[in-house]
Amino acid sequence: MTYHVPVLVDEVLAHMQLKSGGLYVDATLGGGGHSYAMLSKQANIRLIGFDQDQDAINFASERLSEFQNQVTIIKANFKNMRTRLALEKINYIDGALFDIGVSNYQITNPAKGFTFMEDADLDMRMDKDNPLTAEKIVNEYPENQLKEIFFNYGEENYSAHIAKTIIYHRNEKRISRTGELSDIIEKSLAYLQGKHKAEVNYIKTKARIFQALRIAVNDELGILEQSLLDAIYTLRPGSRLLVISWHSLEDRIVKNLFQRESTDCICDKSVPQCVCKHTALVKIISKKAITPKEDEISVNSNARSAKLRVVEKLGRLK
Ligand SMILES: C[S@@+](CC[C@H](N)C(=O)[O-])C[C@H]1O[C@@H](n2cnc3c(N)ncnc32)[C@H](O)[C@@H]1O
Repeated sequence: MTYHVPVLVDEVLAHMQLKSGGLYVDATLGGGGHSYAMLSKQANIRLIGFDQDQDAINFASERLSEFQNQVTIIKANFKNMRTRLALEKINYIDGALFDIGVSNYQITNPAKGFTFMEDADLDMRMDKDNPLTAEKIVNEYPENQLKEIFFNYGEENYSAHIAKTIIYHRNEKRISRTGELSDIIEKSLAYLQGKHKAEVNYIKTKARIFQALRIAVNDELGILEQSLLDAIYTLRPGSRLLVISWHSLEDRIVKNLFQRESTDCICDKSVPQCVCKHTALVKIISKKAITPKEDEISVNSNARSAKLRVVEKLGRLK
């Protein structure tokens, strides 16, 4: 089974600048594809791999078994990376990769409930220990909050109308299956089309609503900035943080963080003299996001939306 095809592998290897004896973090192991490539490319490195999904941990452990003396695999959210590294008595690392979002296995496995293409429990948790499910959000969040989730995390224009339709249906019966939610979205759009002659795209809207719920369930955007900042703090000077993002909402957070943390003063332009005392932690290596070449996209169309950004830690160890 192909768990996940890693993207931008050559670019990741080129920018990570692996060196013998180095310690690297893969914050999002998934199927272990990037880790496997790093361990194969440079002998004598150590790698700590994180994932919050037990399925990924199981798959990657198997995949990386030939390197078991060099690899430590930790089931944890990467927002806890610094603490978990400290427990391993690790203060500094020589590079980190975040390939954020979901793996192909997660998105296509009906049991996860991420896809509207198959009927399944409305779950959407990457981490089964997370108490929040999509079912809970859809049935218990107030209308306004649903609307905001659909708008902020799905950029869906009909967020308000879809939230209202959900409330109407859940008052009749709890919505517990992806198929039911998919039907409700369809009814909502059909009404808009019929009554207001609205231009609607059923597939794209469903994809946006499901994406929004997935982001909310896993708090994907809420934890991103601080997690990346923690990774920057943990980098040894001269070493690099690589982030692959999959949609504009993620990429905006990465880009803004990298811009801010590569700038000395971040005071408002109207302030005549610096009061923030902010100093740059990194320099930007990828002035523009690095994207897959056409030959990669031709064999893996999923790669089309991936964007890699790279920064290098400044300073010296005290
Ligand atoms: C795009 S896949 C990574 C694929 C991987 N680079 C490979 O080569 O197979 C993203 C992975 O990150 C994990 N993930 C997403 N958010 C996470 C988080 N906050 N903490 C830990 N793992 C996370 C997902 O469970 C998923 O397995």
